Amino acid sequence: MNPVPAALGLSPTEITGVLEAASLAPSLHNSQPWRFRVLPEQIELHADLDRRLPATDPEQRELRLSCGAALLNLRLALQGHGVRPLVTLLPDGYRPGTDGSGALAVVRYGGHARQTPELARLAQAVRTRRTNRRPFIDAPVPASHRSQLLRAAESERGWLYALSGRDQHAAVRGLVARAHREQMADPDFRSELAAWTGREGAHRDGVPVSAGGPQPEPQDEWVLRDFTAGRGHVRTAGKDFESEPLLVVLCSFHEGPLAELQAGLALQQVLLTATTAGLSASFLSQPIEVPHIRAELRRALKTTLEPQAILRIGFGSPIATTPRRPVTDLLMPRTARTFS
Ligand SMILES: Cc1cc2nc3c(=O)[nH]c(=O)nc-3n(C[C@H](O)[C@H](O)[C@H](O)COP(=O)(O)O)c2cc1C
Repeated sequence: MNPVPAALGLSPTEITGVLEAASLAPSLHNSQPWRFRVLPEQIELHADLDRRLPATDPEQRELRLSCGAALLNLRLALQGHGVRPLVTLLPDGYRPGTDGSGALAVVRYGGHARQTPELARLAQAVRTRRTNRRPFIDAPVPASHRSQLLRAAESERGWLYALSGRDQHAAVRGLVARAHREQMADPDFRSELAAWTGREGAHRDGVPVSAGGPQPEPQDEWVLRDFTAGRGHVRTAGKDFESEPLLVVLCSFHEGPLAELQAGLALQQVLLTATTAGLSASFLSQPIEVPHIRAELRRALKTTLEPQAILRIGFGSPIATTPRRPVTDLLMPRTARTFS
């Protein structure tokens, strides 16, 4: 018997597929920090605080970004079944930073709606999107694609800021390098990175060597994290990135847990839109994770918005997948809760 219950008028098999799609979202170090309570009338999304990364993400900001990305996938999967999802973010009872017992979001049945071709393309991209840390080909991202990505962020209340000019690139490159150095000087950060990345063999989470990208080298212009525990392939071209990478900073208009969840929705909308346009993306999170460097980043961008994620976007080659936990591991007990 399928341990996944029926919900929102969908069968256990359909709900299993919906939760599988949600779990294909990106997450910090592939920690997959989400859980779902499935009830007949609603699906609740909760943070899985056993999967938080206290050294890298002490405020659980990136945990909420990851959960927001999973929520977008969940919405798209429901729409694929003709369900209009009625989403309430942070319903009553969520206490950030405490025991996390409240839901991050509740999704209810909002009526029947036919899936549009655009939503179908995004839903398909859920399965093909990957974080691609390899150098991309040296072809500029066309202006039409860039505006598509900007619109994608705006559609989920985000703002996408594209870096422009040598000075701005150099300033952000410097911030990445400094943040990286500060983080790597912290033994807790290093052991967290080592515990979750560079994995070999059968795992259900974390970053495998095969998806870790190339091994960073001292002459690299952009300082990247080594996700391969020193076991990544050594580059022959000696080049870290394409010569003119498109770097964008996803920003929210506010700060706090609600803004972070919304930023996660916007992040995933941008990543899936990029995938449908044949583009790949990778992250450069270091300057956002170190609070005082994040403040400098805001100054370098001359913005009052809140930077939430830095992405490198371009035309990449195929890359290995990362593993996911089975849906049965993501289920919470079915004790009913009511949210106003
Ligand atoms: C909030 C957030 C921050 C991330 N930061 C980085 C990063 O700094 N460097 C990196 O290479 N990948 C980063 N990632 C990508 C994750 O490692 C990746 O999503 C995870 O390993 C799952 O792989 P997938 O995206 O290919 O499904 C980040 C992802 C999220 C959601």
